[in-house]
Amino acid sequence: MGIIYLNNAATSHPKPEKVSEATLNALQSIPPAELRSNLSDNGTDLLHRARCTISDFFNLGDQCSLIFTSGGTESLNLIIRGTIQENDHVITTAAEHNAVLRPLNWLKAKKGIEITTLPVSEFGWVDPQSLKDAIRPETKAFIIGHVSNVTGTIQDLFSISLICQENGILLLIDGCQGSGNVNVNFREFGCAAYVFTGHKGLMGPPGTGGIIIKNSLINDTSPLHFGGVGYAAEKPLFVDDFPAKFEVGTQNYPGFAGLEAGIEWLQETDTNDSKVPEMGTELAEAISELPGLRVIKGNSKAWFPGIVSFTIQGLDSQEIAGFLSEEHGIICRSGYCCAPLIHKYIGSQDSGVVRLSPGRFNTRDDINLAIEAIRGVCKLAV
Ligand SMILES: Cc1ncc(COP(=O)(O)O)c(C=O)c1O
Repeated sequence: MGIIYLNNAATSHPKPEKVSEATLNALQSIPPAELRSNLSDNGTDLLHRARCTISDFFNLGDQCSLIFTSGGTESLNLIIRGTIQENDHVITTAAEHNAVLRPLNWLKAKKGIEITTLPVSEFGWVDPQSLKDAIRPETKAFIIGHVSNVTGTIQDLFSISLICQENGILLLIDGCQGSGNVNVNFREFGCAAYVFTGHKGLMGPPGTGGIIIKNSLINDTSPLHFGGVGYAAEKPLFVDDFPAKFEVGTQNYPGFAGLEAGIEWLQETDTNDSKVPEMGTELAEAISELPGLRVIKGNSKAWFPGIVSFTIQGLDSQEIAGFLSEEHGIICRSGYCCAPLIHKYIGSQDSGVVRLSPGRFNTRDDINLAIEAIRGVCKLAV
C-alpha cells in the first residue's frame, strides 16, 4: 500500500527538490557573516538574500519590515506578547489556533488583560459587524486568522481592516494558513502585523517563519527573546537596531535558504495554479453526497478548498482517520486541530473533524482514491 499525503495544512509534503538542495547547500557552506565571524560581509550573504526575496514576494513596500522567526507559533507569541500590555482589552475569535489563544490566555492570567472572543458562523466565518459591536475605548488589538485551519474559511480582512483603522486598534493577522495559499495583499489589509510560517503553503522547511510588521509599530514592540546579536555586547538588554532587536541568537540560515528556494519555486511554477483548489472542490463535492457525511465549508468565495473538513454521523473522527491510514495509507489530520473553540459553532464538538488537505504534489488519482476510501468509511457507519 502506498502513502497518499493529504495533510498539507499541517505541513506541506513533499518539498520541491530545490528546497532540499538549498537547505543542504547552506548547511555545507561556510556560515554567513551574520553568523558572527571575521568573514567580510558584502551584503550578499544568504540570510540577506532570503530576506530580500521574501520581502519582494509579500510586496512589503517601504512602510513595513520583515522579522525572521522559527515559525508561526513564535511569531504570534512575539507580536501578541510584545504589543499587548497590562489591563489592555483585546478581541479575538472562536476560530483561532492555540498559537493565538494560549499567549492571550497567558496574558490574561499574568497581566490581567481582558479578552472578548467573537462567535463564528457554522462555517467558521467572522461577521465584521460583530467586531464593530465589541470594540471599546480601551480596546488595543484585534487578532484573527486569515484562513481557518479547520474549515478553510477566508475572513473578510478588507472590511475588518477598515473597522480597525477607523477605531485606531491594531490588526494582528495569523496568516499561517493564508501565506502561499491565498492572495496576501498585505497593503490592502492595512494591518499592523501579518504572521506567516514557512513550512506550509510557502513550501519551506519547518523551523522558519516570520512577521511582516508596520514600521510604525517596531519601537512599541518588545522582543520575545534576549541574547547576543554579534555586536554591541555591552548593552544590558537589547539593541534598538532592526531586525537585531527581535532576532537574537544563531539564525536558522539553512532553513531560510530553503524557504527562499520554496518561494522561488512557487514563483517559477505555479503562482496562478488552480490545481489545489480544483482538487479540493472535487473532493468536497464528491464526498458531500455520501450518507451521514457533512463537509464543513462556506461559499466558494469565502473558502480555501485546500482544506476539506468533514464529520460522519455516528463515527468518531479519530476512528475515521485511523481507518483511512491503516486501510488506505491516507495521511490526514483529525480531532480539534489545535483550534478548540470553533467546534461548538461548526457542530463538531464531540470529536472534532477529519481534515484532508491536498497540496501541489497531489494528483487527481490521489483524490479519486480518497473519495473511494471515504465511501468505504461511510458504509461502516450504516
Ligand atoms: C492557523 C495556524 N496558526 C498557527 C500555526 C502554528 O504555526 P507553526 O507550526 O509554524 O508554529 C498553525 C500551524 O498549524 C496554524 O494552522
